[in-house]
Formats: sequence, structure tokens, C-alpha cells
Amino acid sequence: MALRVTVIGTGYLGAVHAACMADLGYEVLGLDTDTSKVASLSSGRAPFYEPGLDDVLARAIASGRLRFTTSFAEAAEFGDIHFLCVGTPQKRGSHAADMTYVDGALESLAKELTRPCLVVGKSTVPVGTADRLAGRLAELAPVGVGAELAWNPEFLREGYAVQDTVAPDRLVVGVRSAAAEATLRVVYATQLANGVPFVVTDFATAELVKVAANSFLATKISFINAMAEICDVTGADVTKLAEAIGHDERIGKQFLRAGLGFGGGCLPKDIRAFMARAGELGVGESVAFLREVDEVNLRRRQRTVDIARELAGGDVLDVRIACLGAAFKPDSDDVRDSPALHVASALQVEGADVHVYDPKAMANARRQFPTLALAESAADAVAGADVVLLLTEWKEFRDLDPVALRDVVAQPRIIDARNVLDPAAWRAAGWTYRGLGRP
Ligand code: UDX
Repeated sequence: MALRVTVIGTGYLGAVHAACMADLGYEVLGLDTDTSKVASLSSGRAPFYEPGLDDVLARAIASGRLRFTTSFAEAAEFGDIHFLCVGTPQKRGSHAADMTYVDGALESLAKELTRPCLVVGKSTVPVGTADRLAGRLAELAPVGVGAELAWNPEFLREGYAVQDTVAPDRLVVGVRSAAAEATLRVVYATQLANGVPFVVTDFATAELVKVAANSFLATKISFINAMAEICDVTGADVTKLAEAIGHDERIGKQFLRAGLGFGGGCLPKDIRAFMARAGELGVGESVAFLREVDEVNLRRRQRTVDIARELAGGDVLDVRIACLGAAFKPDSDDVRDSPALHVASALQVEGADVHVYDPKAMANARRQFPTLALAESAADAVAGADVVLLLTEWKEFRDLDPVALRDVVAQPRIIDARNVLDPAAWRAAGWTYRGLGRP
């Protein structure tokens, strides 16, 4: 009989994983303690925006292979393999990861496990967690050693989550037995048949692969943003610089887009949790550079606010500012640690009359910053603006027509905080154009 799969936690990671596993042919039971998420997913609607997910979800539910529940007892009874996909947000008042949800989910599930199974952690966790959880599982599970733990970090990007789940760059599994590896090879048979590299490691390595990958990506972004700071004072163009160094295959072109920097639910909190964990382990110095990475990144937001003030003549009080973008990146409605909303709220605090528009993230933006004025459309946001800021590079904004827009603003001044517009075209249409690290 085919393996039956449960997915514990149906946020970005879990909802996509559950839908894709069902689409690949498995019987899947998704579990969440949030009844509104369970209701939404059960009706075939994702509780967040992710391109392509609603189709996969609807197909999986119609096939009868995907259901959702709030009951750990039901999940334990159902599953041969349980994927833990709950969040590990940044702890309040600390850089460390908040392990409440991971610990809670593991314990609630473990207590109900009366038949042999594999519990597979996918959440991003501090190194050492899997070892600790394996101990808890052995203590709590009625089936005893029949319940085994494995660690299988997830690398999906928001906006490409379906594609990254069905066809990932690589699969990494931290295991303690040949049986666990064999089960994971069965569950990922489709990906393996398609040639996806399968890297088998111990627990600690599997946990570290995830934070090392995100630290590297964050460092790459902050590296090019540091170069943008140098470009700013020398009159050089960071977009050309990135293009030129990116031709070197050892460096590569990707993740060298200078601008407002990284945000979201992963990179910022993952590098901070890594610093906190390394400190606990007595090797804080080894990742001390991540503090600089974080600081370079946060300086980009301040720099954007400074340019807006400068363009407004030294002061933004009562200046009408259009902020295009609220999501932390395009093709997502996620506003967690969003650089765009950070800039918008900072300008509002300085007294600017800020109008924000985002194609998908308006509801989340409203929840996070209830006092920000939200516009109905990009045209609405920019009407009468003294300064326009492009903060998230949605296609809709990249395609804006400088000539048409010139007629609706009060002052033709634009800050292209993602360096995605053609400066020559905007200047030719009469705009004062400012990029980040571009002359
Ligand atoms: C990231 C990792 O890519 C993924 O592998 C991991 O599993 C989760 O974290 P995600 O947060 O979805 O995924 O977004 P990503 O595409 O990595 O972008 C992160 C941030 O960096 C965004 O705010 C983006 O705007 C910014 N970024 C990205 C840049 O500023 N410049 C770049 O060149 C690339």
C-alpha cells in the first residue's frame, strides 16, 4: 500500500507541501491548530497568495487524496510519515528562534503515536534540535522505537513554492538509520527519478545546510548592497558592476540585485537565529560577519528614507508620498519584515502623507500597519504625489509608463529602490530619477 503522509502545520511551507504530495499521488492529511486555515484549505483556497497553489490544491482536494484536520490523534492514526512544517519565528526581545510551535507539535503528535512511522522535521531550526527532539519522541511515543525521527530541510522560495517543491534543486535528509533513508527515497521517488540530487547526512549537518544556505544568500545580497554604498559616493553604477562580476561563473549573476535589501519570514530571522545559536555553542565569532550583513541590509531602508527626504527638499512633513509595494518581494502577499512597509511607516512617522499600494498584500499590510493609508490602485497612490517610491518590483510597477505617469503626479520625482527601471527613459520623460547605488 502507498505511504500515507501527514503534514503538521499548514503555513507557506506545509500547505504547499501537503498539496504537492497529494498531487503526486499520496494520501495526505494536513493538520493545523488554526481552524480558519483548516476551513480555507478544505474548501480548496490557500489562506495566502502563492502563484499556482490554488490550482494544485483544488485538484488535490477533488481527487479525494487531500484532507485537513485539527486532531493529532487522527493524524497519528493516519500517517506512515509525518512532516513537521510549523514555523520558527524570531523570539520576542531576542535574536533566537522561538521553538514553541516545533516543540508543541512534536509533543502533541508523539503522545498519539501507537504505530510505526517516520517523523520528518522540515522547519528551520537551531542546530541540535533534531537530536533533542529524537529524545523527546522516544520518551513520549507509545510505540517507542517504532517512531523514528529524520530531518529534511526545505529550501522553497515564496512565489516559486510549488515549482520548488515538485522540482527542488536538491533534497537533503538527515537520518540515523538506513530504514529512514529508504522511506524518504520512496516518498521522494518522483523527484529522484527526475534526477534531483539527494544528499544524505547526519542531523546536525542537515540542520546547518539550511541556515548556511540562507546565510550565504543574505551575505551575497548585502555584499552587493555594500558595493552600492561605495557606488553612491563614487558615481559608479552598481547594476553594471553586478552584471560585470556576475559573468565570472565562480560568482554568478543571481542574488546580486542591489536595492532595498532582503526581508521576509526567512532570511532576516534565520541569520539572527544562527548568530544566537553559534553564540550559545561558543563559536559566535565564526558568524560575527552576519551582524554586518544584517546591518548593511537595514541601512538600505534608512538610505531610501534619506533619499526621499532629500528629494522632498529636506523635510517630508505633509509631503505626499506614493509607496508602490508592500510585500517583501513580488508575487507574494507576505509582509513579514517587509523592507517596503518599513520605509513607508518610517516616512509616515516623519509626518509624510504616505499612500501605499500593492497588487496582493493590501490586507496583510492593513493588519500590520493599520494607520497607513492604502490606495485602491497604483494610479490612485501616485495621483498628486510629490515623491514616488518603487519599493517592491512587481511587474505592474516595472512596466509603468513614465510619460503617462508624469501627468498625474504633483512633482515628477521617483526613487527606484529596486533598481528595475530604465533611468534614461524616466529622465527623458522629465523625471528626477534616483536609484540605489546608481548615478
Ligand atoms: C528564501 C530562500 O531563497 C529560500 O531558499 C528559503 O527556503 C527561504 O528564504 P524567500 O524568503 O522566499 O526565500 O525569498 P528570496 O527570493 O530568497 O528573497 C529574499 C529577499 O531578498 C527578498 O526581500 C528579495 O527582495 C531580496 N533579494 C533577493 C534582493 O534584495 N536581491 C537579490 O538579488 C535577491
